[in-house]
Amino acid sequence: MRRKLVAGNWKMQGRHAANAALVQGIRAREAEYLGVDLWIAPPALYIDQLAGLVVGSSICLMAQNVAREDDGACTGEISAGMLRDAACVAVIVGHSERRSRYGDDDAVVAEKFGRAQAAGLIPVLCVGETLAEREAGQTEAVVLRQLQVAIDAHGVSALASAVLAYEPVWAIGTGRTATSEQVQQVHRVLRAEVEKNDADVSAGLRILYGGSVRAANAGALFAMPDIDGALVGGASLDADEFVAIARAARVAH
Ligand code: 13P
Repeated sequence: MRRKLVAGNWKMQGRHAANAALVQGIRAREAEYLGVDLWIAPPALYIDQLAGLVVGSSICLMAQNVAREDDGACTGEISAGMLRDAACVAVIVGHSERRSRYGDDDAVVAEKFGRAQAAGLIPVLCVGETLAEREAGQTEAVVLRQLQVAIDAHGVSALASAVLAYEPVWAIGTGRTATSEQVQQVHRVLRAEVEKNDADVSAGLRILYGGSVRAANAGALFAMPDIDGALVGGASLDADEFVAIARAARVAH
């Protein structure tokens, strides 16, 4: 049985006072998401602040990005070792915003995945097709290629300590959620691909969905057999909405 995971990606949003209020709001309702893993990825600048805010709670911290390199002369970058030192347990790699705007191609994503694991962080590998790719019938080919890059670089066993996130680009921040059937179909294909290589890794692999997840659609998504949680953007900035999503994951157990 895979434990459900609800992860909030704050993206480039937050301020000290607002962060404190948001985490307090989430913690106040901890009883509602018992048994669900809850992770939060604030901007890197605020990781230290959140490390203080989550003390004594079950909330874990995740980073939104990591350097390709180890510590050294890389102005502006943050290494996996630093993130681990700052109490992060995981890091997002391959988010479509980084793929499309910051040059994170498949090779870069594979490097970041490896750096994360070498430092003891869980990489949350994002895959997902654009609208044009979906309309051209390429969805499965695209997500399988993005998955294969990590498998080729690090072996299928590396997925035993990783999380996958399917985030169709056309559903991110658009209010347009993929239907739970569309998501289930892609998750099944991803899991089957891993299963071809290693049935145990496949059975334990958590595959999250991301793209306009809200309390209103979370229940239907989590009822699907291969949807193990959510990577939440906009709705993770609202304590009530985020906790309601986590509660839906708990009910779906
Ligand atoms: P939204 O939930 O705002 O669509 O963002 C999804 C996402 O990109 C999470 O990483």
